[in-house]
Amino acid sequence: MSRKIEQTLSIIKPDAVERNLVNEIKEIFLKNNLIIKDSKKIHITKEEAAEFYKVHQSKPFYNDLCTYLSSGPIVVMILEGENAILNNRKLMGSTNPKDAEEKTIRKLYGISIDKNSVHGSDSMENAKKEIEFFFK
Ligand code: CMP
Repeated sequence: MSRKIEQTLSIIKPDAVERNLVNEIKEIFLKNNLIIKDSKKIHITKEEAAEFYKVHQSKPFYNDLCTYLSSGPIVVMILEGENAILNNRKLMGSTNPKDAEEKTIRKLYGISIDKNSVHGSDSMENAKKEIEFFFK
């Protein structure tokens, strides 16, 4: 695999912030060659969540997803490292914690497909947009 330094956006979702899992999750990133370039705890509105997740607007779960992301504090982070986008996605595991691989964040901490503890950008293009959304 080619070595390229990338940045990606990570969100620790309300279910994980509420259960005080922020430090544990950050440790997983740090132990796996990701640097936390920036991090902030925020509480977004449903409208902001709807804008952030608008790629999913046609999906049946869109409304619940936006209600959920705005239901409590979240931690948004810029992660940086070699192949950060793919590395972060591997560390998170499958979207549904039931299907997630052993030792992944969603396997360890996820409760359900909605309360799956973390979000991570899925492509270079989305990483740019998502970092811009929260940090610019
Ligand atoms: P995330 O990676 O944040 O991207 C969109 C979110 O929608 C996803 O994690 C899940 O938490 C949530 N979601 C709820 N239902 C579904 C579904 N059926 N398929 C994919 N994502 C879902």
